[in-house]
Amino acid sequence: MQERHRLLRRGQKVFDLGCWPGGWLQHAAAQVGPGGRVVGIDRAAIDPPLGLSNVTVLEGDLAEAGTAERLREALGGRADVVLSDAAPKLTGLRDRDRAAEEDLLCVIEALLPALLRPGGDLLLKILDGPEAQEVDRRIRRVFRSAKAVKLKATRKGSSERYLLARGFAGAGSGTRSGAVQSNRAKRGDSTA
Ligand SMILES: C[S@@+](CC[C@H](N)C(=O)[O-])C[C@H]1O[C@@H](n2cnc3c(N)ncnc32)[C@H](O)[C@@H]1O
Repeated sequence: MQERHRLLRRGQKVFDLGCWPGGWLQHAAAQVGPGGRVVGIDRAAIDPPLGLSNVTVLEGDLAEAGTAERLREALGGRADVVLSDAAPKLTGLRDRDRAAEEDLLCVIEALLPALLRPGGDLLLKILDGPEAQEVDRRIRRVFRSAKAVKLKATRKGSSERYLLARGFAGAGSGTRSGAVQSNRAKRGDSTA
C-alpha cells in the first residue's frame, strides 16, 4: 500500500482512528519520522504503551462529543492524513452488526472536516451494507480522487476493503459535519 500509493511522507501529521493494538501507529510513525506526528484513538487502551516519541494515543470513543477537539489538541491542528481501520465488535447478529458498522462510518464521515486539512488524504475501512455504500459515495464526492483498495495484510477471500481518497475539499464541502444523522437516529432509537 505504502510502496504503491505513497500515502505517508516524512514530517506529516496523521490521525489513526481505531488504532488498537497499534500496528498502523507503528507503521505511520516510521513513515512520518521524527519530524512528523501521529495521534491515535481507540476505545481500548494500548497496554503496554508503544513508547514511540512521535506517537500519542488517546483512549475514547469516536462518537463522544469533544473527540475532534481532543484529537486536534493532541496533534496541534488538522492532519495531513486520516487513517481509519475502526470496526465495531461483531456480535454475529447480522442486522445489529451492520447497523453498528454503518453508524461508525457516519460518525467518521462527520468528523472529517474537523480532522482533515483541505487537500489532505484519507484511508478508510469501508464495511458492508447499503448505508456504508452511501457514505462511500458521499465521501468520494468531497475528494479530488478516490478508489477502493485492498491491503496486503487482508486475509484471502475477505470482503474487507478500504477507500483511498486524496485531496479533501475541506469543511463545508458536503460531508455531513456535526449534525450527522446516524442510522440509529433515523431508526428513532433513543440511544442515538
Ligand atoms: C481492526 S482494529 C484496528 C487495528 C489497528 N489498525 C492496528 O493496526 O493495530 C479496529 C479497532 O477499532 C476500534 N473502534 C471501533 N469503534 C470505535 C469507536 N467508536 N471509537 C473508538 N474506537 C473504535 C476497536 O476498539 C478496535 O480496536
